[in-house]
Parts: sequence; structure tokens; C-alpha cells
Amino acid sequence: MALQIENIEKSRISDVDFGNLKFGEIFTDHMFECDFENGAWQTPKIRPYQSLTFDPSAKVFHYGQAVFEGMKAYKDTNNDVWLFRPDQNQKRINISAERLDMPAFPKEYFLEGLNTLLKMDSEWVQKGDDFALYIRPFIIATEHCVSAATSNRYKFMIICSPVQSYFTGEVRVVFADEYSRAANGGVGFAKAAGNYAASFYPTRLASEQGYQQVLWTDAANHEFLEEAGTMNVFFRVNDTLLTAPTSDRILDGVTRKSVIQVAKDEGINVEVRNVRVSEIVEAARKGELLEMFGAGTAVVISPILGFSHQNETFELPKIENSYASIIKKRITDIQRNKAEDKFGWRVKVQ
Ligand code: COI
Repeated sequence: MALQIENIEKSRISDVDFGNLKFGEIFTDHMFECDFENGAWQTPKIRPYQSLTFDPSAKVFHYGQAVFEGMKAYKDTNNDVWLFRPDQNQKRINISAERLDMPAFPKEYFLEGLNTLLKMDSEWVQKGDDFALYIRPFIIATEHCVSAATSNRYKFMIICSPVQSYFTGEVRVVFADEYSRAANGGVGFAKAAGNYAASFYPTRLASEQGYQQVLWTDAANHEFLEEAGTMNVFFRVNDTLLTAPTSDRILDGVTRKSVIQVAKDEGINVEVRNVRVSEIVEAARKGELLEMFGAGTAVVISPILGFSHQNETFELPKIENSYASIIKKRITDIQRNKAEDKFGWRVKVQ
């Protein structure tokens, strides 16, 4: 693959307080960039991280034609850098792109471009269980024109941000019973930027009541529990782990599918099926709802300590050896090259 590379003159890394990172605020020295023009992706470039200039009429500003991905890189004790299932993100950005009527980005450009970028910025991947490099590939519509029709120019980019935990405190959720995130036939399964924009207002209302996230339910009747926007969601009722099946409303999360596989491998009974709000509320009343947790690249596996449903609040019990902690350890040990990778998920940057 032809790739133009322009190196930074001086790294900014010494200015970074790695012990005090706010999620997604600091970016590494370089960025990967490729433009789609005249019906084809042009020669990709890696150049110093910098601001971009766009015409105010660029379509992304007006119609939100934008999709993205979230991935992480980890550094092991030998200073080797690892990706987790990058093929899944590569495929998914093109699934999202297709739904938003954007051109697919070539697999080779994605994977080789990312590998080169990570080699160049490998100093930014810090060692230690608390650190990862969050990787944000995205595609935006850049045609200069405000007619409400698909763009004929796009920009694909990858930017990288050193991160610690996504949530800094405890997580509790509100079960949605008014607003919706996604509908049948819509874009809920895609990592479309607008899915996130649409969730901010209801999430702010939830946070004003002390809840960090909204747990979205189906738009038709608010009867089934679906996902939380920044994460897919799992429920442990007695010794069974439940999660909703993917659909055109739910993101096919890479962490989600890894959790299902690892849980089954641990001998945990996993049911992937529609999960009724009423059964979870009932299980919580009976003390049978032992755990809830979110799963996603940014949040990893995040226990959910309680929820609110139609103004009633529920706290989950504090338990030892939670499924969340067992599964989190299995997955993060694979991600960080601390355990055998029997599923073949880990990919070395080289
Ligand atoms: C991710 O986990 O990578 C996500 O996309 C969630 C993000 C919106 C913070």
C-alpha cells in the first residue's frame, strides 16, 4: 500500500500527565487520513496531529453523514503493542458506512494504516493495567454543498488518545420509558455519529437524577431492554447471564460478543434473547438479579450498581466473584498478553 508519511518535529508526549487522563481529551503525535474523491480513495497519509479546515458547507455539518469506530491498543511488559480483534472493527465501519450511504474503506488501508500509525506513536501506549490507547477511526462527508443528498467526497481518519477508565465513579442507569435511541429499520446497529447526539439530552436528564446512563428499551413499547449507547448490557439472574440479541436497533459490540464467548467457555449459562423490563424488575424485587454490567471498548466491563424504572429505584447486591469480574479478567488478560489467547483475538502491532 502506498502511504505518505510526514513525521512530527518534536513529540508532545513529555507534556502529558499520564496519571491524570480524562477520557479522549489528549491525542498522540500523528493521525492517519485518506480522502475519497472522484469515486476512489486516494493515497493515504500519516501526518502530525493537527486541526483541519473545512468549508462551512461540508455535508457532515448539515446532515450528520458520519460513522466511527472504537478500538484499543495495549502494551505488555515486553513493550509489545497489541490490538484486540481489529478485523471486527474494520468490518463494522464498512457496515455502518453502507447504511449511511458512504463508500467502504479498503481493509488493507485500514489495517496497515493503523499498524503504521501505532508503530509511529507506540510511546503513547503506556504499560500497566490502568492504561490503553483508545483508537478512533471515523469517516465524514466532506462535499461542499448543502443539498440534502449523499456526499461525493469523504474523509477517513484515525486518531488515537491515551486513556484510563471511561467511568470515574459508580454507574447506575435509568430504564428508558419515554425517549428512544433506535427504531426498526433505522441506524441503531450502525456506529452513526447521530445515534450518540440523540442520546445526549435524555442522558443529561438521567444524570440530573444521579444516573450516569440511560438503558434504552425498544422504541415501540419500552418493553425490552436493549443497550446503553456507550455499551451493550448483560443481566445475571440467579446463575444465568442474559443479553439482548443484536438487531437493526442494537450495536453488534466486539466486547459483547467476546463476553458471550468467554462466559460460555467459563461454563456460564448464557441466554441471548429478548430481555423484558418486567422480568428484570421482578428478579430485582425477588433478590434474583445478582448483577448487571455494561460491555464496550471504551468502558471495558463496567458493573451497573443499580437502576431506576418508572421512579422506583433498585440497588443490586454486592457479590464476591461476580461474573463481571471473572469475565473482565479473562478478556483483559487476553487483550494485554497476560494469558493464552485460545480464540485468536490478539493481533501484534509490528
Ligand atoms: C466505544 O466503546 O468505543 C464507543 O464507541 C463508546 C464511545 C461512544 C465512548
